Amino acid sequence: MGRLRVAIISAGRMASTIDDEIREHDTWLSLKSQLPYSHAPCYKTLSDDVDMVAVCDLDEAKCRAFCERWDVPRYYLDWREMIERESPDIVSVAVAASMHAEMALFAMERGVRGIYCEKAMCCSLAEAEAIVAGAREHGTVFMLGAQRRHHPNFRKAREIIESGELGELVGVYSWIEGALLHTLSHLADNSLYLAGDAAPVAVYGVLTGLRTTASMDHIEARRVAGDLQYDTTTKRWNGDPGCSTYTAQLENGVFLVHLPAFMDVRWEAVCSNGYVRIVDNNDTLQVYKRHGKTYTFDLTDAPVIGPASSHLALVRDLLRCVRNGGRTLANEIVGIHGMQILMGAAQSHLEGGRQVDVAEIDRDMYIPSH
Ligand SMILES: NC(=O)c1ccc[n+]([C@@H]2O[C@H](COP(=O)([O-])OP(=O)(O)OC[C@H]3O[C@@H](n4cnc5c(N)ncnc54)[C@H](O)[C@@H]3O)[C@@H](O)[C@H]2O)c1
Repeated sequence: MGRLRVAIISAGRMASTIDDEIREHDTWLSLKSQLPYSHAPCYKTLSDDVDMVAVCDLDEAKCRAFCERWDVPRYYLDWREMIERESPDIVSVAVAASMHAEMALFAMERGVRGIYCEKAMCCSLAEAEAIVAGAREHGTVFMLGAQRRHHPNFRKAREIIESGELGELVGVYSWIEGALLHTLSHLADNSLYLAGDAAPVAVYGVLTGLRTTASMDHIEARRVAGDLQYDTTTKRWNGDPGCSTYTAQLENGVFLVHLPAFMDVRWEAVCSNGYVRIVDNNDTLQVYKRHGKTYTFDLTDAPVIGPASSHLALVRDLLRCVRNGGRTLANEIVGIHGMQILMGAAQSHLEGGRQVDVAEIDRDMYIPSH
């Protein structure tokens, strides 16, 4: 196999320009040491192996700017035309989640070998199931933009948990206040990762509209539907709901618990004899071990891990799988597990917070995440 040909749908932030925001603003300080972040600079960094052959966006000015900045020869205003004319090896889908399933499926059917699909994976379980089935049928390598799986602190945390040195894993707790699909897709994914990627079996949750609380980051607030409504006829929410809390039980007995409160993006994996904490939006790993048989826990010397681009690792994983076969770390199966947790929280909310089995979630319930 020669050099891989990549076509990108979107010339927007995640496709191209979010690195500029990270450099210019101090909202997400920790991300400054995790560049490149968006798709194009990652492919550019890996230009020994890949060529970006085309980009597509509805906004022609953005297409032109993209081509000039990343030295891409062609742009299209119609993504279907781009895929059919270019026959790329890899397609990046970096538009809003409502288009992810349709674009990914079209690319699979046209023989594209690898898909880098941004989170949220899609907007319903029916769409997620179609992606899983499509990847199986066409032998396509699918990868969700769930970059934190590749962050060295998450990989180290999972290694510590799996080593058993802290005892048995009981639960993984995560905190942030934000939109269910747009934001919590990251949180659910990383909790699943820390819990060994076991499948969810049951979920309960409570959603909320946009709360007038100082706890929510102003960027996150833009993503959350104001007055929360669900249309039982069309099975559509009126936007991406905020999530107050959910609890998911996994098949390995571990509980994933998500809590509101915007402190930072954080996780704690609690084991019988200690816990691992990841704070500062990935950057700080803390490991606590039980002091003898007491209820006191000592902070141990966790490894301090330097700057790392999780996105670059993500793209490398995709390229490796397209060339050699195998599943990406952020594959469609872990993707659908994340969707089951989030849609399960929504289903539970509609039923007054009842615990719902994954099989009971309405696969057509649709959350228009953007
Ligand atoms: N992994 C991460 O950390 C991360 C961070 C930010 C955004 N994202 C994800 O990236 C995706 C895009 O978000 P964004 O912030 O870059 O949005 P954006 O609005 O900056 O970019 C989306 C682009 O899609 C274009 N577009 C819309 N419809 C189109 C169509 N039919 N054909 C071609 N182009 C079309 C728009 O013109 C726009 O330029 C979302 O799924 C979002 O969740 C992921």
